[in-house]
Amino acid sequence: MHNCCSSQEQVNGLNRHGWWRDAVIYQVYVRSFLDSTGDGIGDLAGVRAGLPYLKKLGVDGIWLSPFYPSPQHDHGYDVADYCDVDPVFGDLDEFDQLVAAARRLGVKVLLDVVPNHCSAEHPWFREALAAGPGSAARARFHFADGRGPDGAEPPNNWHAMFGGPAWTRITEADGSPGQWYLHMFTPEQPDWNWRNPEIPAEFDRVLRFWLDRGVDGFRIDVAAGLYKHPELPDSDDPEIDARTRDSVNPLAWNQPEVHDVWRHWRSVCEEYTARDGRERLLVGEVSVPSAREHAKYVRPDELHQAFFFDLLGAPWDADAFRKVISEAMEDIAGTGSTVTWVLNNHDQVRTVTRYGEPAPEASGLGAARARAAALLMLALPGAAYIYQGEELGLPEVVDLPDDVLTDPIFHRTGSRARIRDGCRVPLPWSGQASPFGFTTGAQNAKPWLPQPEYFAEYVTERALADTRSFWHLYRDGLQLRSALPQLGEGTLRWLDAEPGVLAFVRGDGLVCAVNFGTAPTPAPVSGIPLLTSGPCPPGVLAGSTTAWWIADGTPET
Ligand code: NOJ
Repeated sequence: MHNCCSSQEQVNGLNRHGWWRDAVIYQVYVRSFLDSTGDGIGDLAGVRAGLPYLKKLGVDGIWLSPFYPSPQHDHGYDVADYCDVDPVFGDLDEFDQLVAAARRLGVKVLLDVVPNHCSAEHPWFREALAAGPGSAARARFHFADGRGPDGAEPPNNWHAMFGGPAWTRITEADGSPGQWYLHMFTPEQPDWNWRNPEIPAEFDRVLRFWLDRGVDGFRIDVAAGLYKHPELPDSDDPEIDARTRDSVNPLAWNQPEVHDVWRHWRSVCEEYTARDGRERLLVGEVSVPSAREHAKYVRPDELHQAFFFDLLGAPWDADAFRKVISEAMEDIAGTGSTVTWVLNNHDQVRTVTRYGEPAPEASGLGAARARAAALLMLALPGAAYIYQGEELGLPEVVDLPDDVLTDPIFHRTGSRARIRDGCRVPLPWSGQASPFGFTTGAQNAKPWLPQPEYFAEYVTERALADTRSFWHLYRDGLQLRSALPQLGEGTLRWLDAEPGVLAFVRGDGLVCAVNFGTAPTPAPVSGIPLLTSGPCPPGVLAGSTTAWWIADGTPET
């Protein structure tokens, strides 16, 4: 953001000054952003129409959730064709127009690539089903004979992340009970066998297809996945992934071979940079058991960034936040990367609800805390990701009826616990009633998930007009980030503070303080703050509030 560097530095792999190091990227969940055709589902033309809005907000780039042809069993994370656009979202021509429009505005475009698994409708999986045991087509996946009499038991005892066994038995072409295939998510998402050289070669082709179309990088789904233990042995705790909803089965995730894939992908990115000087970005969804393992993914020749999810997982508590922030800084030190902060995404309960009361009461404490957390995140050293609707202060929609839920977690487990539809409800843009401007085309269909009436309070047109809105807080924070050299990449030094308050200084004197309590405390520095997440009387840091100051002289710890 603040720095630029010669392409020669980038090519040499120094990467000390890449644009991504302190970039703020906005996650566009395409089906819920803006619908240009009126079928009730957001699309790429809708994203293009929304670019000026995002430019005004001040983000450096966008990450587009998967828009590839897909039967949508997991909203596009089940890819049937990695090199095309699903007609629901547009076509390649529309994609090219989106990339061109974003380039004109100076907004980077990241795609979401899904290399751990595909869709059961991918042509290679269909070929594998037809080809039979022992075929080259089956060797692209994990097919195995079952155990027990007649092979009726799965090849091992692993459970899938979204519930049920990680194996599904097929019926062979002759109608006989057949082999089993591995899927760490739903049965509609068979896992690729990365030990087969055809798979890395195919993904090399996929990356180049999109890089040739001008994208600036990729968010990588399940980046600690891909390889499994070569013997696929039984696990001592086979339900650990489903129980924790995290990829922690040590036999199924985080195998050492995966690092070679990221080294190769990095070299592909650098090959493109060498051609045109534009540095590409790889950001991994890396879920691993320790900070040390996390750091391995962002070594200088691997991924540029890996989401640091511990901030998102921390309870609203000063000590908990200080611990995860310190750990992140230590984790990343020496890797050549910067910390990649995230508070919300399409898999998590939105901050306003997570930190407070359920909607519609969410305008109170949860909203104040979410605002404070946003200003804290934007003050931390490194890069940050914002999930669409976060800039509006949208609460989680917690009361969707069962019959509209689409999350495979709900359908496979029968439980509403931690389901993800509530953070994916289409954005409200304008007006007083659903579809709130989300659906703008001719067909006038209902949004694919119902929008609650109280979304009227959150429409973008209202947020833009109200300087006290979440939108203005994010916009002001982003503007200061680009204007002030203390923000973005750099140092962080903790300051002594009242109990329940976190305070730190950035660079040569930008102070950020967060009051996690509900009672006001004395401000840790004198003077008028540059920006606060809520009203603060002079000399006071209000409860559930963050403030930024430029201090006179560097405050002492
Ligand atoms: C992580 C994605 O964020 C999530 O939405 C998806 O269901 C899983 N990976 C499987 O692809």
